Amino acid sequence: MSPPQPLARITGTGRYLPDRVLTNADLERMVDTSDAWIRERTGIHERRIADDETDATVMGARAAEAALEKAGVRARELDAIIVTTATPDRFLPITSCEIQAAIGASRRCFAFDLQAACTGFLYALTMAEGQIAAGRAEKILIVSTEKMSTIVDWDDRATCILFGDGAGAVVVEPSANGEGILSSHHRSDGDLAELIRRQAGGARLPLTPERLRDREHMVQMAGPAVFKSAVRAMSRASLRVVRAAGWSAGEIDILVPHQANARIIESTARYARVPMERVFVNLHRYGNISSATIPVGLDEAVEDGRIRPGTNLLMTAFGAGLTWGAVAMRW
Ligand code: COA
Repeated sequence: MSPPQPLARITGTGRYLPDRVLTNADLERMVDTSDAWIRERTGIHERRIADDETDATVMGARAAEAALEKAGVRARELDAIIVTTATPDRFLPITSCEIQAAIGASRRCFAFDLQAACTGFLYALTMAEGQIAAGRAEKILIVSTEKMSTIVDWDDRATCILFGDGAGAVVVEPSANGEGILSSHHRSDGDLAELIRRQAGGARLPLTPERLRDREHMVQMAGPAVFKSAVRAMSRASLRVVRAAGWSAGEIDILVPHQANARIIESTARYARVPMERVFVNLHRYGNISSATIPVGLDEAVEDGRIRPGTNLLMTAFGAGLTWGAVAMRW
């Protein structure tokens, strides 16, 4: 889709990662796995795990405060807060309102949670862009905060090795000089809903002692099927937004993809014709932090100078639903 006017740009980024590191060697003591298998099949070396007091709101608020400071925006100036999370602290109230209160945003601001699993951040970016283009908001905070350690089954070696905790945030504002979101493409496919799921705990299968015992409220995943869908979805979406932005493959300065598996990232980059030296990867340090992977990656890439004013940035993600998308942006 071509960009609405005015363009929406990211003016500040922030992240919060818990201090506690869980290494592959630690996991060897918990399930039947090995450091070598995890590194070779996923690319992950370690991940962060939040303690009991550090919930999605706490991590999200920390990331938000860092992003606001870098944008030079005060919390009470915000018009909207969008929070993406697969691990809300409570089913009600929504986590975005908890973060609104935690950072001291005003009541003039509207806050809502957006659920699109690991693709949530990119969907939120497009929702923020729409609000800005419609003239309904000028300062929007997006917070992606995930405490995945509370929803993975620590006895299931096929999933527990993949995920970690953390939060990323960005401030989105109108831009006047041609920088900002140039194109975006989002899709979903409910026919593939069973590939990644948490069966119990919602309205269809409320929690019972039996369902808790059988861990039906934990993440279940058909790994290899997700793998294939992910590569196809992210590479096609990437090619589309690059074309819509009017770029050639050589004009992509950096690709910040969802960090789920190093082999997924490499295949996606190959299909999207982006050489690996222009792909941002922090998966080895954090594992898959669901919707927080991209904003955490943006903050690190800005900090180490890989993203600068004028950088042509491509982002792509996929997740449960299935959902997927890509966004092309001039920084
Ligand atoms: N340690 C050791 N062996 C493991 C293991 C682990 N942690 N997890 C699975 N295995 C075993 C399997 O039991 C299987 O053994 P078998 O052949 O005897 O049955 C073998 O390794 C191969 O399993 P498979 O599932 O085919 O491996 P894979 O190469 O597809 O890798 C994933 C598994 C999960 C790493 C990979 O499929 C993947 O990353 N998928 C995408 C998941 C994803 O991104 N999800 C998040 C979406 S946002």
